[in-house]
Amino acid sequence: VPKCLPKQVLSNQLQPRASFKVAVLGAAGGIGQPLGLLIKMSPLVSSLHLYDIANVKGVAADLSHCNSPAQVLDFTGQSELANCLKGVDVVVIPAGVPRKPGMTRDDLFNINAGIVKTLVEAVADNCPDAFIHIISNPVNSTVPIAAEVLKQKGVYNPKKLFGVTTLDVVRANTFVGQKKNLKIVDVDVPVVGGHAGITILPLLSKTSPSVTFTDEEVGELTERIQNAGTEVVEAKAGAGSATLSMAYAAAQFVESSLHALNGEEDVYECSFVQSELTELPFFASRVKLGKKGIEAVISDDLHGLTEYEAKALEALKAELKASIEKGVAFVHKQA
Ligand code: NAD
Ligand code: LMR
Repeated sequence: VPKCLPKQVLSNQLQPRASFKVAVLGAAGGIGQPLGLLIKMSPLVSSLHLYDIANVKGVAADLSHCNSPAQVLDFTGQSELANCLKGVDVVVIPAGVPRKPGMTRDDLFNINAGIVKTLVEAVADNCPDAFIHIISNPVNSTVPIAAEVLKQKGVYNPKKLFGVTTLDVVRANTFVGQKKNLKIVDVDVPVVGGHAGITILPLLSKTSPSVTFTDEEVGELTERIQNAGTEVVEAKAGAGSATLSMAYAAAQFVESSLHALNGEEDVYECSFVQSELTELPFFASRVKLGKKGIEAVISDDLHGLTEYEAKALEALKAELKASIEKGVAFVHKQA
């Protein structure tokens, strides 16, 4: 009798298994819930730890009924945070407030900086070896905040701290694929810089498969990719920002991290990381992931830029530098 299993589950059963533990902090939120679902579907996950300040019990009970291997555990409030983090391989942080129309990501700084600081302190105390994926905005500042907290705790490993910019790549791939009538799954556009406004720099000249764009197309596509977050914020009209596409992108980054931890070769993703590619201390680019985190920060994409891209790269540096410095100063002010 054929078994009544979805194709995804059947094909997962044929793949090699591993047993990684993943924690999501902010798991009851707009991103946290669909992200929890997508991680629950991964054959590489043995344990999914869901943490939030409220409403996480119901999310965990719901997800735990899906017949995929990962065990789902829930943790509510600061007193349960340490237990959530012990023994975890990857920590994903989408905790914090989202934008409403008219706001910039930097307008979230006052609330989200403190949330990220507190959560990363707990990560430093309980799972300092974990890969840390920061989703909470403004990413250009929250990643430097996380780095300073980890430094203060004496456990900073720049190879394992990541600002999640995968959504910028997902959007770039989608928009370019649509514009050029390409098979979407084949399109790969590196996106460098940071994750806000003009700091998001899609390198369209490095698109794979190789495609040519008119100057007008480059201008339109670049602007659409840079404003895609705002496009969703405005469409949601006060109900928040991107959650479903963000969960899709974050799940891709988690899955890549797990493949790397599992010892697989040739795992590449774009991410906002400590970097020497430019004079800025943090910069998003492609990175090669391995068992110990970042194996290489890829510089190739920054060679042979078009004049448009080279100018845009210079133009983004002042804003990105200020956002990084704002994050660093926040942690030092509190010390
Ligand atoms: P949301 O309000 O729906 O969910 C946030 C969750 O965080 C809530 O469940 C809330 O209870 C929880 N939370 C708040 N304080 C917390 C704390 N101290 N500890 C643990 N959890 C806490 O928001 P959302 O739509 O899920 O967005 C979350 C964040 O992700 C926002 O800052 C948003 O700007 C950001 N974001 C980033 C990207 C990106 O590309 N990096 C994309 C989309 C959204
Ligand atoms: C996004 O790019 O969708 C996120 O950074 C959320 C936002 O505020 O735009």
